[in-house]
Amino acid sequence: MKNILFTGAAGYIGSCSAYTFLKNTSCNVYVIDNLSSGFIENIRFLESKFSDRIHFINLDLDDTCALESLLKANKFDCVVHFAASLIVPESVINPLLYYSNNTKNTLNLISLCIESNINKFIFSSTAAVYGEPKILPVKEDSALSPINPYGASKMMSEMILRDASIAYKDFNFVALRYFNVAGALSDSDFEKKSGLGQRNKNATHLIKVACECAVGKRESISIFGDDYDTKDGSCIRDYIHIDDLASAHLSAYEFLDTHKKSDVFNVGYGNGYSVKEVIEIVKEVSGVDFKVVQSVRREGDPAKLISDNTKILKETSWKPKYNDLKLIAKSAYLWECALKDENA
Ligand SMILES: NC(=O)c1ccc[n+]([C@@H]2O[C@H](COP(=O)([O-])OP(=O)(O)OC[C@H]3O[C@@H](n4cnc5c(N)ncnc54)[C@H](O)[C@@H]3O)[C@@H](O)[C@H]2O)c1
Repeated sequence: MKNILFTGAAGYIGSCSAYTFLKNTSCNVYVIDNLSSGFIENIRFLESKFSDRIHFINLDLDDTCALESLLKANKFDCVVHFAASLIVPESVINPLLYYSNNTKNTLNLISLCIESNINKFIFSSTAAVYGEPKILPVKEDSALSPINPYGASKMMSEMILRDASIAYKDFNFVALRYFNVAGALSDSDFEKKSGLGQRNKNATHLIKVACECAVGKRESISIFGDDYDTKDGSCIRDYIHIDDLASAHLSAYEFLDTHKKSDVFNVGYGNGYSVKEVIEIVKEVSGVDFKVVQSVRREGDPAKLISDNTKILKETSWKPKYNDLKLIAKSAYLWECALKDENA
Protein backbone atom coordinates (compact mmCIF):
# COMPACT_ATOMS: atom_id res chain seq x y z
CA MET A 1 0.00 0.00 0.00
CA LYS A 2 1.43 3.38 -0.98
CA ASN A 3 1.71 6.32 1.41
CA ILE A 4 0.81 9.76 0.07
CA LEU A 5 1.43 13.00 1.94
CA PHE A 6 -1.19 15.76 1.62
CA THR A 7 -0.27 19.20 2.97
CA GLY A 8 -3.17 21.52 3.84
CA ALA A 9 -5.82 18.81 3.57
CA ALA A 10 -7.78 20.07 6.58
CA GLY A 11 -8.78 22.80 4.12
CA TYR A 12 -11.45 22.83 1.44
CA ILE A 13 -9.76 21.51 -1.72
CA GLY A 14 -7.23 19.31 0.09
CA SER A 15 -9.85 17.47 2.16
CA CYS A 16 -12.04 16.83 -0.91
CA SER A 17 -9.00 15.63 -2.88
CA ALA A 18 -7.90 13.36 -0.01
CA TYR A 19 -11.44 11.90 -0.02
CA THR A 20 -11.15 11.20 -3.76
CA PHE A 21 -7.81 9.42 -3.31
CA LEU A 22 -9.07 7.40 -0.34
CA LYS A 23 -12.24 6.40 -2.19
CA ASN A 24 -10.59 5.46 -5.48
CA THR A 25 -7.24 3.96 -4.45
CA SER A 26 -5.94 1.76 -1.64
CA CYS A 27 -3.32 4.31 -0.53
CA ASN A 28 -2.69 5.58 3.00
CA VAL A 29 -3.15 9.33 3.27
CA TYR A 30 -1.05 11.37 5.70
CA VAL A 31 -2.28 14.93 6.22
CA ILE A 32 -0.16 17.72 7.65
CA ASP A 33 -1.92 20.96 8.46
CA ASN A 34 -1.50 23.73 11.05
CA LEU A 35 -5.26 24.42 11.05
CA SER A 36 -4.63 28.11 10.35
CA SER A 37 -7.51 28.15 7.86
CA GLY A 38 -8.36 24.44 7.89
CA PHE A 39 -10.90 22.60 10.03
CA ILE A 40 -10.53 19.53 12.21
CA GLU A 41 -14.13 18.66 11.21
CA ASN A 42 -12.85 17.90 7.69
CA ILE A 43 -10.31 15.46 9.11
CA ARG A 44 -12.97 13.90 11.38
CA PHE A 45 -15.19 13.34 8.32
CA LEU A 46 -12.35 11.58 6.48
CA GLU A 47 -11.61 9.48 9.61
CA SER A 48 -15.29 8.51 9.85
CA LYS A 49 -15.14 7.06 6.33
CA PHE A 50 -11.60 5.69 6.08
CA SER A 51 -10.42 5.33 9.69
CA ASP A 52 -7.48 2.99 9.10
CA ARG A 53 -6.00 4.83 6.09
CA ILE A 54 -6.01 8.47 7.20
CA HIS A 55 -3.39 9.91 9.54
CA PHE A 56 -3.51 13.52 10.70
CA ILE A 57 -0.46 15.40 12.00
CA ASN A 58 -0.88 18.96 13.28
CA LEU A 59 2.27 20.49 11.85
CA ASP A 60 3.34 23.83 10.42
CA LEU A 61 5.27 23.60 7.15
CA ASP A 62 7.69 26.09 8.63
CA ASP A 63 8.78 23.47 11.18
CA THR A 64 11.58 22.01 9.05
CA CYS A 65 12.86 19.59 11.71
CA ALA A 66 9.47 17.97 12.27
CA LEU A 67 8.83 17.86 8.51
CA GLU A 68 12.20 16.27 7.84
CA SER A 69 11.61 13.59 10.49
CA LEU A 70 8.18 12.82 9.04
CA LEU A 71 9.50 12.48 5.49
CA LYS A 72 12.43 10.31 6.60
CA ALA A 73 10.26 8.08 8.82
CA ASN A 74 7.69 7.27 6.14
CA LYS A 75 8.27 6.15 2.60
CA PHE A 76 6.01 8.57 0.73
CA ASP A 77 5.29 7.82 -2.91
CA CYS A 78 3.98 11.32 -3.62
CA VAL A 79 3.42 14.72 -2.02
CA VAL A 80 0.24 16.64 -2.89
CA HIS A 81 0.85 20.20 -1.76
CA PHE A 82 -2.22 22.35 -0.97
CA ALA A 83 -1.09 24.29 2.13
CA ALA A 84 -0.91 28.01 1.39
CA SER A 85 -2.25 31.46 2.18
CA LEU A 86 -4.70 32.45 -0.53
CA ILE A 87 -6.57 35.70 0.01
CA VAL A 88 -5.64 38.05 -2.84
CA PRO A 89 -6.37 41.41 -1.10
CA GLU A 90 -4.47 40.21 2.00
CA SER A 91 -1.49 39.35 -0.22
CA VAL A 92 -1.44 42.95 -1.46
CA ILE A 93 -1.34 44.27 2.11
CA ASN A 94 1.02 41.63 3.52
CA PRO A 95 3.11 40.29 0.61
CA LEU A 96 5.93 38.90 2.76
CA LEU A 97 3.53 36.51 4.47
CA TYR A 98 2.67 35.14 1.03
CA TYR A 99 6.28 34.78 -0.14
CA SER A 100 7.10 33.10 3.16
CA ASN A 101 4.16 30.71 3.54
CA ASN A 102 3.74 29.96 -0.16
CA THR A 103 7.14 30.27 -1.84
CA LYS A 104 9.67 29.70 0.98
CA ASN A 105 7.75 26.80 2.52
CA THR A 106 7.27 25.21 -0.89
CA LEU A 107 11.00 25.53 -1.63
CA ASN A 108 11.74 23.91 1.70
CA LEU A 109 9.28 21.07 1.07
CA ILE A 110 10.70 20.41 -2.42
CA SER A 111 14.26 20.25 -1.00
CA LEU A 112 13.18 17.77 1.66
CA CYS A 113 11.38 15.65 -0.96
CA ILE A 114 14.51 15.48 -3.09
CA GLU A 115 16.64 14.58 -0.03
CA SER A 116 14.14 11.90 0.96
CA ASN A 117 13.82 10.44 -2.55
CA ILE A 118 10.18 11.41 -3.01
CA ASN A 119 9.90 11.81 -6.75
CA LYS A 120 6.25 12.72 -7.37
CA PHE A 121 4.96 16.17 -6.44
CA ILE A 122 1.53 17.64 -7.22
CA PHE A 123 1.25 21.38 -6.72
CA SER A 124 -1.85 23.57 -6.20
CA SER A 125 -1.22 26.46 -8.53
CA THR A 126 -3.71 29.04 -9.68
CA ALA A 127 -5.04 30.98 -12.64
CA ALA A 128 -3.70 34.04 -10.80
CA VAL A 129 -0.24 33.26 -12.27
CA TYR A 130 -1.51 34.59 -15.62
CA GLY A 131 -2.45 38.06 -14.39
CA GLU A 132 -4.44 39.76 -17.16
CA PRO A 133 -4.01 37.37 -20.11
CA LYS A 134 -4.13 39.00 -23.55
CA ILE A 135 -5.74 36.01 -25.24
CA LEU A 136 -8.69 34.10 -23.78
CA PRO A 137 -9.29 31.30 -23.10
CA VAL A 138 -5.79 31.20 -21.66
CA LYS A 139 -3.41 28.34 -22.50
CA GLU A 140 -0.65 26.96 -20.26
CA ASP A 141 2.12 28.38 -22.47
CA SER A 142 0.80 31.96 -22.18
CA ALA A 143 3.10 34.46 -20.52
CA LEU A 144 2.95 34.45 -16.72
CA SER A 145 2.44 37.93 -15.41
CA PRO A 146 0.70 37.90 -12.01
CA ILE A 147 -0.77 41.18 -10.81
CA ASN A 148 -0.79 40.38 -7.09
CA PRO A 149 1.70 38.85 -4.61
CA TYR A 150 -0.47 35.73 -4.19
CA GLY A 151 -0.15 34.93 -7.91
CA ALA A 152 3.55 35.83 -7.86
CA SER A 153 4.20 33.56 -4.86
CA LYS A 154 2.65 30.64 -6.77
CA MET A 155 4.46 31.47 -10.01
CA MET A 156 7.81 31.39 -8.17
CA SER A 157 6.94 28.01 -6.68
CA GLU A 158 6.21 26.71 -10.18
CA MET A 159 9.61 27.98 -11.34
CA ILE A 160 11.37 26.25 -8.46
CA LEU A 161 9.58 23.02 -9.35
CA ARG A 162 10.48 23.36 -13.04
CA ASP A 163 14.17 23.98 -12.34
CA ALA A 164 14.36 21.24 -9.69
CA SER A 165 12.81 18.73 -12.09
CA ILE A 166 15.41 19.64 -14.74
CA ALA A 167 18.32 19.35 -12.31
CA TYR A 168 17.11 16.22 -10.47
CA LYS A 169 16.11 13.80 -13.22
CA ASP A 170 14.02 11.48 -11.04
CA PHE A 171 11.99 14.29 -9.52
CA ASN A 172 8.77 15.05 -11.42
CA PHE A 173 5.89 17.38 -10.69
CA VAL A 174 2.47 18.34 -11.97
CA ALA A 175 1.30 21.87 -11.30
CA LEU A 176 -2.47 22.27 -11.56
CA ARG A 177 -3.58 25.83 -12.25
CA TYR A 178 -7.02 25.95 -10.70
CA PHE A 179 -9.65 28.37 -11.88
CA ASN A 180 -12.48 29.30 -9.44
CA VAL A 181 -13.58 26.32 -7.41
CA ALA A 182 -16.96 26.05 -5.70
CA GLY A 183 -19.59 23.60 -4.46
CA ALA A 184 -19.58 20.72 -2.00
CA LEU A 185 -18.44 17.14 -2.43
CA SER A 186 -21.17 15.29 -4.33
CA ASP A 187 -20.99 12.35 -1.87
CA SER A 188 -22.10 14.71 0.92
CA ASP A 189 -25.35 13.87 2.71
CA PHE A 190 -26.83 17.34 3.19
CA GLU A 191 -29.81 16.01 5.19
CA LYS A 192 -27.47 14.38 7.71
CA LYS A 193 -25.14 17.43 7.60
CA SER A 194 -22.31 15.10 6.69
CA GLY A 195 -19.81 15.84 3.97
CA LEU A 196 -17.12 18.19 2.80
CA GLY A 197 -17.40 21.73 1.51
CA GLN A 198 -16.14 25.24 2.08
CA ARG A 199 -16.23 26.14 5.79
CA ASN A 200 -14.05 29.28 5.80
CA LYS A 201 -15.03 32.10 8.08
CA ASN A 202 -14.65 35.53 6.45
CA ALA A 203 -14.80 33.83 3.05
CA THR A 204 -14.06 35.93 -0.01
CA HIS A 205 -15.09 33.44 -2.73
CA LEU A 206 -18.08 34.71 -4.70
CA ILE A 207 -20.34 31.64 -4.69
CA LYS A 208 -19.66 30.97 -0.99
CA VAL A 209 -20.42 34.59 -0.05
CA ALA A 210 -23.59 34.65 -2.18
CA CYS A 211 -24.78 31.42 -0.50
CA GLU A 212 -24.07 32.91 2.93
CA CYS A 213 -26.37 35.79 1.94
CA ALA A 214 -29.02 33.34 0.76
CA VAL A 215 -29.08 31.54 4.15
CA GLY A 216 -29.07 34.84 6.06
CA LYS A 217 -25.51 34.64 7.44
CA ARG A 218 -24.64 37.92 5.72
CA GLU A 219 -26.78 40.92 5.01
CA SER A 220 -25.46 41.69 1.53
CA ILE A 221 -22.91 40.88 -1.11
CA SER A 222 -20.66 43.45 -2.82
CA ILE A 223 -19.86 43.53 -6.51
CA PHE A 224 -16.35 44.93 -6.77
CA GLY A 225 -16.27 47.10 -9.89
CA ASP A 226 -18.85 47.62 -12.64
CA ASP A 227 -16.58 49.35 -15.13
CA TYR A 228 -14.47 46.43 -16.38
CA ASP A 229 -14.32 45.82 -20.11
CA THR A 230 -16.76 42.88 -19.92
CA LYS A 231 -20.34 42.25 -21.08
CA ASP A 232 -21.93 43.73 -17.92
CA GLY A 233 -18.95 45.56 -16.39
CA SER A 234 -18.30 42.97 -13.63
CA CYS A 235 -15.38 40.48 -13.58
CA ILE A 236 -15.58 37.20 -15.48
CA ARG A 237 -14.36 33.88 -14.07
CA ASP A 238 -14.38 30.18 -14.93
CA TYR A 239 -16.07 28.18 -12.12
CA ILE A 240 -15.27 24.51 -11.51
CA HIS A 241 -17.07 22.00 -9.29
CA ILE A 242 -14.98 20.73 -6.36
CA ASP A 243 -15.48 17.05 -7.38
CA ASP A 244 -13.97 17.71 -10.80
CA LEU A 245 -11.08 19.64 -9.28
CA ALA A 246 -10.46 16.84 -6.76
CA SER A 247 -10.47 14.18 -9.49
CA ALA A 248 -7.91 16.23 -11.47
CA HIS A 249 -5.41 15.44 -8.66
CA LEU A 250 -5.98 11.73 -9.11
CA SER A 251 -5.42 12.13 -12.86
CA ALA A 252 -2.23 14.10 -12.11
CA TYR A 253 -1.04 11.25 -9.88
CA GLU A 254 -1.74 8.69 -12.63
CA PHE A 255 0.05 10.97 -15.11
CA LEU A 256 3.18 11.07 -12.91
CA ASP A 257 3.05 7.32 -12.32
CA THR A 258 2.67 6.48 -16.00
CA HIS A 259 4.73 9.11 -17.82
CA LYS A 260 7.40 9.92 -15.22
CA LYS A 261 7.68 13.47 -16.51
CA SER A 262 6.64 16.93 -15.35
CA ASP A 263 3.91 19.16 -16.72
CA VAL A 264 1.54 22.04 -16.00
CA PHE A 265 -2.23 21.91 -16.60
CA ASN A 266 -5.10 24.36 -16.39
CA VAL A 267 -8.08 22.97 -14.49
CA GLY A 268 -11.28 24.72 -15.48
CA TYR A 269 -14.19 24.20 -17.86
CA GLY A 270 -13.49 26.99 -20.34
CA ASN A 271 -16.73 28.86 -19.55
CA GLY A 272 -16.79 32.48 -18.37
CA TYR A 273 -19.51 33.86 -16.07
CA SER A 274 -19.71 37.42 -14.81
CA VAL A 275 -20.08 38.23 -11.10
CA LYS A 276 -23.58 39.55 -11.81
CA GLU A 277 -24.59 36.35 -13.62
CA VAL A 278 -23.29 34.18 -10.77
CA ILE A 279 -25.25 36.19 -8.19
CA GLU A 280 -28.43 35.78 -10.27
CA ILE A 281 -27.87 32.01 -10.48
CA VAL A 282 -27.42 31.74 -6.68
CA LYS A 283 -30.62 33.75 -6.21
CA GLU A 284 -32.42 31.41 -8.62
CA VAL A 285 -31.29 28.11 -7.05
CA SER A 286 -31.88 29.35 -3.50
CA GLY A 287 -35.11 31.22 -4.22
CA VAL A 288 -33.81 34.10 -2.05
CA ASP A 289 -33.55 37.66 -3.36
CA PHE A 290 -30.70 38.86 -1.12
CA LYS A 291 -29.25 42.37 -1.13
CA VAL A 292 -26.49 43.27 -3.60
CA VAL A 293 -24.30 46.35 -3.15
CA GLN A 294 -22.28 47.92 -5.96
CA SER A 295 -18.77 48.71 -4.77
CA VAL A 296 -15.49 49.99 -6.24
CA ARG A 297 -12.86 47.75 -7.83
CA ARG A 298 -10.74 45.63 -5.52
CA GLU A 299 -6.97 45.76 -5.94
CA GLY A 300 -5.43 42.72 -7.63
CA ASP A 301 -8.53 41.52 -9.54
CA PRO A 302 -8.05 40.82 -13.27
CA ALA A 303 -11.09 41.57 -15.48
CA LYS A 304 -11.42 38.16 -17.16
CA LEU A 305 -9.99 34.70 -16.54
CA ILE A 306 -11.18 31.74 -18.59
CA SER A 307 -9.23 28.49 -19.00
CA ASP A 308 -8.33 26.60 -22.11
CA ASN A 309 -8.55 23.02 -20.78
CA THR A 310 -7.61 21.23 -24.01
CA LYS A 311 -4.27 20.07 -22.62
CA ILE A 312 -5.48 18.32 -19.46
CA LEU A 313 -8.34 16.69 -21.42
CA LYS A 314 -5.93 15.41 -24.06
CA GLU A 315 -2.94 14.36 -21.97
CA THR A 316 -4.44 12.97 -18.78
CA SER A 317 -7.33 10.70 -17.82
CA TRP A 318 -9.35 13.65 -16.41
CA LYS A 319 -13.05 13.56 -17.32
CA PRO A 320 -15.05 16.38 -15.74
CA LYS A 321 -18.62 15.45 -14.81
CA TYR A 322 -20.19 18.55 -13.25
CA ASN A 323 -19.81 21.33 -15.83
CA ASP A 324 -23.05 23.11 -14.87
CA LEU A 325 -23.02 26.36 -12.91
CA LYS A 326 -26.54 25.85 -11.54
CA LEU A 327 -25.54 22.45 -10.16
CA ILE A 328 -22.38 23.95 -8.61
CA ALA A 329 -24.37 26.80 -7.03
CA LYS A 330 -27.06 24.40 -5.79
CA SER A 331 -24.54 22.15 -4.05
CA ALA A 332 -22.81 25.19 -2.48
CA TYR A 333 -26.22 26.43 -1.28
CA LEU A 334 -27.26 23.06 0.22
CA TRP A 335 -23.89 22.86 1.98
CA GLU A 336 -24.38 26.36 3.39
CA CYS A 337 -27.85 25.37 4.68
CA ALA A 338 -26.32 22.32 6.40
CA LEU A 339 -23.54 24.46 7.93
CA LYS A 340 -26.07 26.99 9.20
CA ASP A 341 -28.02 24.26 11.05
CA GLU A 342 -24.74 22.80 12.37
CA ASN A 343 -23.77 26.17 13.87
CA ALA A 344 -27.26 27.09 15.06
N1 LIG B 1 -10.03 28.11 -3.40
C1 LIG B 1 -9.72 28.48 -4.64
O1 LIG B 1 -10.58 28.97 -5.39
C2 LIG B 1 -8.33 28.27 -5.17
C3 LIG B 1 -8.04 28.69 -6.48
C4 LIG B 1 -6.75 28.50 -6.97
C5 LIG B 1 -5.79 27.87 -6.20
N2 LIG B 1 -6.09 27.48 -4.92
C6 LIG B 1 -5.03 26.84 -4.12
O2 LIG B 1 -5.55 25.63 -3.58
C7 LIG B 1 -4.92 25.33 -2.33
C8 LIG B 1 -5.97 24.99 -1.30
O3 LIG B 1 -6.90 26.06 -1.21
P1 LIG B 1 -8.24 25.96 -0.33
O4 LIG B 1 -9.28 26.77 -1.00
O5 LIG B 1 -8.52 24.55 0.01
O6 LIG B 1 -7.78 26.77 0.97
P2 LIG B 1 -7.93 26.43 2.53
O7 LIG B 1 -7.55 27.67 3.27
O8 LIG B 1 -9.25 25.82 2.81
O9 LIG B 1 -6.79 25.31 2.72
C9 LIG B 1 -5.43 25.63 2.93
C10 LIG B 1 -4.95 24.72 4.06
O10 LIG B 1 -3.56 24.91 4.27
C11 LIG B 1 -3.31 24.97 5.68
N3 LIG B 1 -2.06 25.72 5.86
C12 LIG B 1 -1.78 26.99 5.45
N4 LIG B 1 -0.52 27.32 5.78
C13 LIG B 1 0.03 26.23 6.40
C14 LIG B 1 1.31 25.95 6.95
N5 LIG B 1 2.28 26.86 6.98
N6 LIG B 1 1.52 24.73 7.49
C15 LIG B 1 0.54 23.79 7.50
N7 LIG B 1 -0.69 24.00 6.98
C16 LIG B 1 -0.95 25.21 6.44
C17 LIG B 1 -4.52 25.66 6.26
O11 LIG B 1 -4.73 25.42 7.64
C18 LIG B 1 -5.64 25.04 5.40
O12 LIG B 1 -6.14 23.85 5.95
C19 LIG B 1 -4.06 26.55 -2.00
O13 LIG B 1 -2.73 26.24 -2.33
C20 LIG B 1 -4.60 27.63 -2.92
O14 LIG B 1 -3.62 28.57 -3.25
C21 LIG B 1 -7.33 27.68 -4.39
